[in-house]
Amino acid sequence: MLKLPGLIDPHVHVREPGQTHKEDWDTVTQAALAGGVTMILAMPNTKPPIFDASTLDLALDSAKRKARCDYAQFLGAGPDNAETVAALAPRAAGLKMYLDSTFGELRLNDMTLWMPHFQKFPMDYPIVLHSESRTMAAGILFAALYDRPVHIAHVSLKEEILLIKAAKERGIKVTCEVCPHHLFMVSQVPEEERGKKKEGRMEVRPRLATQKDVDALWDNLDVVDCFATDHAPHTLAEKDSENPPPGFPGLETLLPLLLTAVGAGRLTLDDLIQKSVINPRRIFHLPEQPETWVEVDETAEYEIKAADQFTRCGWTPFEGWKVKGKVRKVVLRGKVAFEDGKVLAEQGYGRNVR
Ligand code: NCD
Ligand code: ZN
Repeated sequence: MLKLPGLIDPHVHVREPGQTHKEDWDTVTQAALAGGVTMILAMPNTKPPIFDASTLDLALDSAKRKARCDYAQFLGAGPDNAETVAALAPRAAGLKMYLDSTFGELRLNDMTLWMPHFQKFPMDYPIVLHSESRTMAAGILFAALYDRPVHIAHVSLKEEILLIKAAKERGIKVTCEVCPHHLFMVSQVPEEERGKKKEGRMEVRPRLATQKDVDALWDNLDVVDCFATDHAPHTLAEKDSENPPPGFPGLETLLPLLLTAVGAGRLTLDDLIQKSVINPRRIFHLPEQPETWVEVDETAEYEIKAADQFTRCGWTPFEGWKVKGKVRKVVLRGKVAFEDGKVLAEQGYGRNVR
């Protein structure tokens, strides 16, 4: 039996308020615990989005009643809420800025809308950027101009990881995360048709990339600060519809996929702990969770099946994948929260770490 610290997932779409047919604070935290994740940071692109005091209360009230693992809630940057969110910073995980195409209403196209957020959001709370390709370069320039830390969400391209590497070498305060689906999956759409052809269930933002991109992420793993799932549940019916929304569930497959990579010698256990616990804790200024650990059967080999999952969305892009390493038990703040396939932590046991 392998004993790990409880994992932190800094990028989770909870879907409550507003889209609880996809997921809610109850099911998402069950999925987290089943995956060995004891703390989640929730994204603000809900319905309504979390962008002021009353919407923050709305999310935190549900979380307080229903969450089974620990959590914090991000605020979303809008066109005219820089002062409001800056004042709310101590109650939130940080600020999420959507600079590129996304699911939901929070999007800031015009760079003049970025400026007040970079000026006003307190330095000791992180700004997380959804930015791709050249927009990422613009975001990193903002980090340099305002001399403040930014965290880049879901890096997927070779040009992006090389840009971040160069920015770090220059001392720019940039950190980043990579998702398992961008490390383990390659787009089945030919490069010239990327963005034009519909990808059905495989729609995700950022899109799955090429083998060259995937190789660059693995070759530059030392530049990657965190693993994050970008757990973005949509129902199977929605994913198989004419216009599938982008996003994959990921909380329950993160650890088995990473442990399988450890088994294959592609990653060390120390890397896994650094990028799933130590670095997210440092970057997002999160508290330690006392008496918290995950027990894993390293030798258990099995197939990933949606039918075994706790997420409400009813599917996984990793269906049928063979993995090695199964979560047997999760202890959260001294209490057995998950054991032998059962979630034992009750609704409301989870704490807001802010
Ligand atoms: C996210 C979602 O569904 O909320 N989808 C995704 O493909 N990652 C939105 C997002 O992060 O852009
Ligand atoms: Zn996301």
